[in-house]
Amino acid sequence: MTTRYITTPIYYLNGEPHLGHVYTTVAGDVLARYWRLAGARVKFLTGTDEHGQKVAQAADAAGEDPKTYTDRMAALWLDMTRKINSSQDVFLRTTEQRHHEAAQALWKKLEANGQIYKSTYAGWYAVRDEAYYEESEIVDGKAPTGSPVEWMEEDSYFFRLSAWERPLLDYYEANPQAIAPLGRRNEVLSFIKSGLRDLSISRTKFKWGVAVPEDQEHVMYVWVDALTNYMTALGYPNVEGEEFKVFWPEVIHLVGKDIIRFHAVYWPALLLAADLMSPNRIFAHGWWTHDGEKMSKSLGNVVDPYQLIETYGLDPVRYYLMREIPFGQDGDYSDTTMVQRVNSDLANDLGNLVQRVLSFIYKNAGAKIPKPDELMGEDREMLAKAAHLHDLLRDDMEVQALQAYCQHIWEVIGEANRYVDMQKPWSLKKSADPKDHRRMETVLYVLAEVIRHVAIYVQPIMPDSATKILDQLGQKERNFDALKTPLKSGTSLEEPQAVFPRVEKEG
Ligand code: MSP
Repeated sequence: MTTRYITTPIYYLNGEPHLGHVYTTVAGDVLARYWRLAGARVKFLTGTDEHGQKVAQAADAAGEDPKTYTDRMAALWLDMTRKINSSQDVFLRTTEQRHHEAAQALWKKLEANGQIYKSTYAGWYAVRDEAYYEESEIVDGKAPTGSPVEWMEEDSYFFRLSAWERPLLDYYEANPQAIAPLGRRNEVLSFIKSGLRDLSISRTKFKWGVAVPEDQEHVMYVWVDALTNYMTALGYPNVEGEEFKVFWPEVIHLVGKDIIRFHAVYWPALLLAADLMSPNRIFAHGWWTHDGEKMSKSLGNVVDPYQLIETYGLDPVRYYLMREIPFGQDGDYSDTTMVQRVNSDLANDLGNLVQRVLSFIYKNAGAKIPKPDELMGEDREMLAKAAHLHDLLRDDMEVQALQAYCQHIWEVIGEANRYVDMQKPWSLKKSADPKDHRRMETVLYVLAEVIRHVAIYVQPIMPDSATKILDQLGQKERNFDALKTPLKSGTSLEEPQAVFPRVEKEG
């Protein structure tokens, strides 16, 4: 059986969700929904990264103790997943007991394997990135990301990262699919080749973290704790457990490009050092800007996802995020492109197709799926294009080509609209010749079958809208397997309602 374990990064609780966070979560949700409909066994994980200095400082600034603060903020993030209709199987918080246990178990395993030693760390640290930086990386007193850095000197445990240079390179050599897109893979390889230094993996200056086993003075470096969440959710340290065996290492870690190094260097090294397998695939997506500018609180231009949903509706926003930019590249949000997508792709192309075909059947063909007569060449061609989606879309999803997934479906929608215009069912309806009437029924049948395909494949992207279309079409079977059987004639339609209204607002 096909299995898919899909993860998003776990989100820091120092602020509220914005478009970037919603983006990764929607992408994960689309993949999870697709693979479930394809009959795979799926586990979709998301959650919150609650420890470390950054979150502790945010709690402080809010005048709350970290526990009260993280409980309050985690509820907001869980609520975000509901507002965007994310279908995660697990929402994991790193403050959960089971996660502390998993992180400590990993630590002990590393220790037993001789991978950890104690020394002193002296160097730069950026709390905003929760990352260490080399002297050579500091530009004008700042991290390469622009974050402020502070000098840190303290006792620390170290992980022997330097020992994993060769094994990591060998692993990526043998598994070219393990990091995508290609540009990111190259970036990671050259980072590893430039030489890996041992990694400081504990802190003593604050307490808000997972305690280092047997040394209460230290808490784990937040990234070691955070990365372990992907194992916690599978029941680690029980590596003999069913979930662990089924899902590891067949994972797709979705991450933003800014955190590829943690996922593609530190994480696999920690796993290999603990006798575990490296993740199968790490996919780094790009960053959204707003009207060409980086989104930031200080510029006041952060796109509020809830505002977008309020204005355009949830499904149009989900569609826009997947369709507007190739998954893996940076992109820009603007109201203008959003309005265009809604009006052109949704209201005009898909919405009109469904509305005019279903209304026509409802009014002129007894509100039932018509019975086809003999098929002509153009009918077979149209049906073949819809049937071909199965393979095209699977290939897209295998490589997380989410934009291509949308494009392939919309090509068929375009074909179907052209087919309606060519076949003119309304003229056939007016004819007194019974042959024309039979032809009209055939044309409508072909169109209903194409709409069924489209709606079934649109489900991962726009679950609610696809549900409405399939309800109107009277279809109960909605998995991809349902498409192996031709559409049944005679099924009653519900009264058609417009699914995608136009928006009047011009950006
Ligand atoms: N807590 C870490 C992840 C730990 S995973 C073991 C973290 N959290 S975060 O909340 O800061 O960021 C989460 C994700 O949001 C990252 O993948 C980041 O790339 C993404 N984005 C933040 N801003 C973004 C945009 N403007 N555009 C797209 N994604 C962005 O990092």
